[in-house]
Amino acid sequence: MNFENIYIEEENNIATITINRPKKLNALNKRTIAELHTAFKELDRDSETKVIIITGSGEKAFVAGADISEFAHFSVKEGRQLAAEGQKTLFDFVENLTTPVIAAINGFALGGGLELAMSSHFRIASDNAKMGLPEVSLGVIPGYGGTQRLPQLIGKGRAMEMIMTAGMMDAHKALECGLVNYVVSQDELLPLCLKIASRISNNSSIAIKHAINAINAGFKYDVNGYASEIDAFGDCFGTEDFKEGTSAFLEKRKADFPGS
Ligand code: COA
Repeated sequence: MNFENIYIEEENNIATITINRPKKLNALNKRTIAELHTAFKELDRDSETKVIIITGSGEKAFVAGADISEFAHFSVKEGRQLAAEGQKTLFDFVENLTTPVIAAINGFALGGGLELAMSSHFRIASDNAKMGLPEVSLGVIPGYGGTQRLPQLIGKGRAMEMIMTAGMMDAHKALECGLVNYVVSQDELLPLCLKIASRISNNSSIAIKHAINAINAGFKYDVNGYASEIDAFGDCFGTEDFKEGTSAFLEKRKADFPGS
């Protein structure tokens, strides 16, 4: 697939995907969602890629939401389909990816933009970032998982208020609520993401994959997170990474994980 609305840079086993529609504040139209799906899928399959960073181009926006011009005339059926397909192809897909995904929120993260950041495994914001789910101001609700993931991250009461008021939260408030892990200047945003990504990439990618699955299991209504953890823990014992990690510790050397 030829990418028109995103580009990918890769260095030291870390891939950065940049959503590149700055004139539309990187709004997620259908094409961009399809490109992101392909990019995430291909990078996840590539064993050389240890961490993925997702960000927006320009200094103003991460993503200012789903592209309103594309769904303004939709019927009930089309609306339902839009949410279902979007959740499947991008938002649930990213959350369940076993390659770690960090959202570098470099400006507005609104609607689908915040939902994409919340689907990522964790978030780091620049100090000009503004986050919100303004859908009720358009007569609709968040449809890409926002009503579920926002309460998981900041608590039900805060999420209720944020969604009902359609208000925006600044980066420092988001840090206080646990929506983002760090707030830094715009210049420092990607360097910090790369630094954390590099620390992640030194660890066992297989163990990280099991950890992501076990953590996510606890947030699924039909799965027992503790039982998933037991299975995943056991599975680690059958991996080359486990042999290497434990041997390296006992031999007092740095582990060099084969990723298998
Ligand atoms: N969908 C489609 N286009 C969008 C968009 C979106 N979610 N967000 C911004 N854009 C477009 C604008 O229409 C404008 O396009 P134009 O220059 O062709 O008119 C361009 O991006 C720049 O946006 P603009 O509104 O002029 O920038 P601003 O600095 O005045 O305001 C925002 C920035 C983010 C506050 C404002 O763009 C906004 O409220 N966007 C919609 C946010 C939203 O409701 N998202 C949830 C969607 S479900």
